[in-house]
Amino acid sequence: MTNSTPPHSGTQADSAPAPGYYQRHIFFCLNERSNGEACCAQYDAMAAFERCKSQVKTAGLAGPGQVRVNKAGCLDRCAAGPVAVVYPEAVWYSYVDASDIDEIVESHLKNGQVVQRLLTPAHLGR
Ligand code: FES
Repeated sequence: MTNSTPPHSGTQADSAPAPGYYQRHIFFCLNERSNGEACCAQYDAMAAFERCKSQVKTAGLAGPGQVRVNKAGCLDRCAAGPVAVVYPEAVWYSYVDASDIDEIVESHLKNGQVVQRLLTPAHLGR
């Protein structure tokens, strides 16, 4: 008889992360355009992404069962940029500076409270 158990399958005894592996993802659009059209990169989205990663790590929120900070291409809401979106809540943010990122980390990613003042207006798309 062969062992049909996948090599990375866990057991109940494992210190398993949350069912979705991460509790939350935040995706930052880092898209850059060279044709003059609006894009999140022109607002230094990379710095915001790096700030978020750093703050999440410092707060002890990074890793399985917690928060994952990810790069993304165009999220097709360029008119509201720079934007980031948090899942599983599907909450969209339009941020301006580092203090906005810090507030998203502390309020939403750490405590589950949406930062109302930074919500992307629902009608803004590309
Ligand atoms: S360039 Fe950022 S949403 Fe499109």
